[in-house]
Amino acid sequence: MTTVRFISADGRQVSEVTARAGTRLLDLAQANGQPLEGTCEGAMACSTCHVIVAPADFIRLPAASADEEDMLDFAHGVGRTSRLACQIWLTADLDSLEVRMPSGSTDMSG
Ligand code: FES
Repeated sequence: MTTVRFISADGRQVSEVTARAGTRLLDLAQANGQPLEGTCEGAMACSTCHVIVAPADFIRLPAASADEEDMLDFAHGVGRTSRLACQIWLTADLDSLEVRMPSGSTDMSG
C-alpha cells in the first residue's frame, strides 16, 4: 500500500489516503473527493488533472513525457513540480507522496 497526502489549494485541508500499488493518482484523488476534473480521462488533452507535487517527492517520480510537459504548459498555476495526475501510477517506492491542488484549472479539451 502507498500513502498519499492531498493538500487543498489554500493549504487548509489535508487528507491522507492509502492506495494499492498500480492505482492511478487521478483515480485516487477523484475517489477521495479531490477537485480534479480529469475531463479527458488520461488522454493528456485537458490538463484538469494538474497537481503540484512536493519538491522532495517530485524527484522520486518517473520523468514526465514530452506530451505531458506540453500539456502542463496550458495548466493554470503551474510550478516547477507540477505534474498531470493521470500520468502517475502509484508504487511502493512512492509511499508518502504529497500533492497539492492547484488554485485553478484550465480545460483544454473543450
Ligand atoms: Fe486530461 Fe490528465 S485527465 S490531461
